[in-house]
Amino acid sequence: MSEFKMHTHLVFVDTFREFVEQERFGDGDFILTNEFLYAKYIRTLGLSCGTAFLEQYAPGEPTTETVDRIRADLPQGLRRMVAIGGGAVMDTAKMLSLHTSRNTTEALFDLTPGAEAPTRLFDVYAVPTTCGTGSEVTNACSVELMSLHTKRGLNNDLMFAKKSVLIPELIRDLPYRFFATSSIDALIHAVESDLSPKATPISRMFSETAVRMILEGYRYLVANGKERWVDRAREFQIAACYAGIAFCSAGCAAVHALSYPLGGGYHIPHGESNQLVFAATFRKYREKKPVGRLNDLEALLAQCLDVPADEALEAAFALFDQVQPRRPLREYGISDGEFRGFAEGVMAGQQRLLGNNYVPLTVEDMVEIYQSVY
Ligand SMILES: [Fe+2]
Repeated sequence: MSEFKMHTHLVFVDTFREFVEQERFGDGDFILTNEFLYAKYIRTLGLSCGTAFLEQYAPGEPTTETVDRIRADLPQGLRRMVAIGGGAVMDTAKMLSLHTSRNTTEALFDLTPGAEAPTRLFDVYAVPTTCGTGSEVTNACSVELMSLHTKRGLNNDLMFAKKSVLIPELIRDLPYRFFATSSIDALIHAVESDLSPKATPISRMFSETAVRMILEGYRYLVANGKERWVDRAREFQIAACYAGIAFCSAGCAAVHALSYPLGGGYHIPHGESNQLVFAATFRKYREKKPVGRLNDLEALLAQCLDVPADEALEAAFALFDQVQPRRPLREYGISDGEFRGFAEGVMAGQQRLLGNNYVPLTVEDMVEIYQSVY
């Protein structure tokens, strides 16, 4: 069965001040953000609500333990949490908004039959400051589970943000590297959801529009200078949101699954770890099933990049590497002896994602994918 989910109240404003004036934040509200964003956009507004900076609790990507420590510090009786940041901030707020009597974040991931279903404690307002995750419009989050030392994703409709607020002002200062990795993550959301067996005509409309917008933006910055991505900030932000809407229904797949051991075990940022395995996964898809839905994607890429369809995937990979050069896995301190363990872990723990693959991959296929980018 396929379905299309979209529980989103999207708000478009030009500045953070405008958003605050509309919402009148105060007692009962809480801001989760990063300190540099607070210093630049929030401090001068003199809001009376509580605030926490994610990096106070975790220097890198958060774990379930990080989320538990923030949970312990939250004031009682919150009405709204405003999550201003990238995927880690928004996902953390979404997890904090859910509660079970065990009062731990890992309990939210317990999907065994009879496990206690979480309830929602407060509403989340999601305000993205990267152009990547789409977390502002999805019912999903991902985090490193401390008990397993790998990242896991979770879907729960209670995690849909009450409002998703797109403010281009907030992403214009994004350092180029964060723009590049986050937008490549969005592009991967778009293509994985486009090929997913759960895709619907409506989700594919969002996937394909996101692909067009991101590739057009990439061609623009390659032609005009990387720093000029800012000219297209709004388009990238909207494309990431479209890709989020698409994967919320159709799901992500093997690229995300294969990147999780790299993100969880080696703390490689999400967009970057996805890019590491992206081209290799799609080459494996093409090797295993050259005729099928992949050809629709190739036709779309060919149109966007002005190349023949049979060269489109490679042209796209080359463009992504121009936007953000990729390093081999060996440079991250990963040993090739770990690949089988990674692949077996992915096969055992990431069926939620692997079920959305264009074509099934075996453990052997996955080892070959890691090996080819070593
Ligand atoms: Fe992602």
